[in-house]
Amino acid sequence: MTDARRQEEVALDVLYPSGFYSFQTPLTLDYVAALNGVPRGHRSADAPFTYLDLGCGDGFTIVCLAAIYPESRFVGVDFNPRHVEAGRALAAAGGLSNVELIEGGFEEWRSLGLPRRVDYVAMHGVYAWISEAARRAILDLVADRLAEGGLLYVSYNALPGWAAVAPLRQYFLDYTRGMGPDAVANVAATLAHLKELRAKGAEYFVRNPAASGFLDELAAKDIRYVAHEIYSPHWSPLPFSAVSSQMRGIGLSFAGSADLAKNFARSSVKSELYPLVAKERNRERAELYRDYANNTFFRRDVFVRRAEDAPREDPRRLLAAFPFGAKVPGPELARVLPLPTGPMPVEGQPFEGLRQALARGTRRLPEIAAADSALAGRFSVLDLAEALQVMSLGFQVAPFARSVAPVAADAEWPIAEWTIPLPLNRRLLAEPAGSDLFVLTVSPTAGTAIPVAPGDALVLLAVAEAGAADAADSAWEYAASRKAWLQRKGGGAITERGAHRAAFAEQKAALAGRLPKWAELGLIAPR
Ligand SMILES: C[S@@+](CC[C@H](N)C(=O)[O-])C[C@H]1O[C@@H](n2cnc3c(N)ncnc32)[C@H](O)[C@@H]1O
Repeated sequence: MTDARRQEEVALDVLYPSGFYSFQTPLTLDYVAALNGVPRGHRSADAPFTYLDLGCGDGFTIVCLAAIYPESRFVGVDFNPRHVEAGRALAAAGGLSNVELIEGGFEEWRSLGLPRRVDYVAMHGVYAWISEAARRAILDLVADRLAEGGLLYVSYNALPGWAAVAPLRQYFLDYTRGMGPDAVANVAATLAHLKELRAKGAEYFVRNPAASGFLDELAAKDIRYVAHEIYSPHWSPLPFSAVSSQMRGIGLSFAGSADLAKNFARSSVKSELYPLVAKERNRERAELYRDYANNTFFRRDVFVRRAEDAPREDPRRLLAAFPFGAKVPGPELARVLPLPTGPMPVEGQPFEGLRQALARGTRRLPEIAAADSALAGRFSVLDLAEALQVMSLGFQVAPFARSVAPVAADAEWPIAEWTIPLPLNRRLLAEPAGSDLFVLTVSPTAGTAIPVAPGDALVLLAVAEAGAADAADSAWEYAASRKAWLQRKGGGAITERGAHRAAFAEQKAALAGRLPKWAELGLIAPR
């Protein structure tokens, strides 16, 4: 990679927004492998591992993962020094020494001091936006460093979805050629111009309704983000077949999709197309059908370093190794899952029994069967495994990174005082990052980020920092100093101290039912 190329990217002066990508957690990758009958490789479930994130941006995801897995090692590579600096600052604030952000280009990977063996490689939003040479370098790196049985996550702009929309990007490039250097202004001018073309009936939009929809999506996004997407010097949507053949070339085979619903025919295509996908034995061909059935724009693939024809196992048996739990309190567990193909009801048995078994604490499948004789009498462990697979498509019931004992709701809770055990969570509650809608926290038991509503986050932090007696005053000071007050029910900030205290008390009373779950998730601990 030339210095000019690096400067080009960095000069855009657009920092990628922080984000937590649950698709790339080690737990998700292990689960996807299991759903597709790929047994765990060389590594036992609880052994520490090494995880490499290529093009890690500001490293938000790996910093969170490092807090979740303190015994494991996380390494991120990104050539943007400002991204690397931001990630290092967050890691330091979280007191984490098991995550390292390395400033460097993929092409220089041999001289970056990367770990000799890695168990996971992740690339989110990277592979379709780099040069052929950078892709080649990544493939060499993976061939050299990914352990046998190791998993790789790669997300990318895909075909056929992008086919009708790709000319829009070209239009931006061509229309702004010769304009001034202000990328954001150029994008704004092109957006306005394209909307005018469309309003006046330009045939391109008439004949490509997807492009029209995409123009609206672009217009709604942060314009700096759009500038990055449009002016990325490399931009090549890829068909799945190209990515899978590149991976095959370095000894990796397709394991499955980190979009969980796409691992099953029924939940990934509309009913008319279901028989076609379901009867296809060749998984790569099934992916081809699926992408055309859905006009796929974006793929999240998981590959495994293992021979393509290595035997697969019954996924339902592999699921027995995972503790399952609920990320939300029992009463909030949905009876209908909102899937991309439409709502999927999960009512009646065995779903009801599973919801009850998992409402508090985690259980492995054999433990569920042993604990509930009525459920075990009617359903085999394999039936229950299948039902759990379905429920996990809703993300409320999920495999957990660690087993957790149920918190005795009646005996110990509600409690008045708690602490926030993880330093990273104290930091994220005080200075939210990674989402504009929620305050993201990390759960060492669920193995992923847990969104908390901003009002609840204020209560969690204030009680932990100041104690229950002084929490309302502490919350007021905090909210006033940041202009981040509690909100009225109908909307509008509560900016008067007395009213804020009252709203705080209300907020605190309302979240009492969630405290046991947050304790199980490791967000809080009784003081
Ligand atoms: C779209 S961002 C994705 C960031 C992060 N993975 C995420 O999803 O939030 C792509 C990242 O790859 C980095 N990048 C692009 N080309 C690179 C290269 N050749 N070597 C190292 N990093 C690169 C950019 O600096 C940027 O942070």
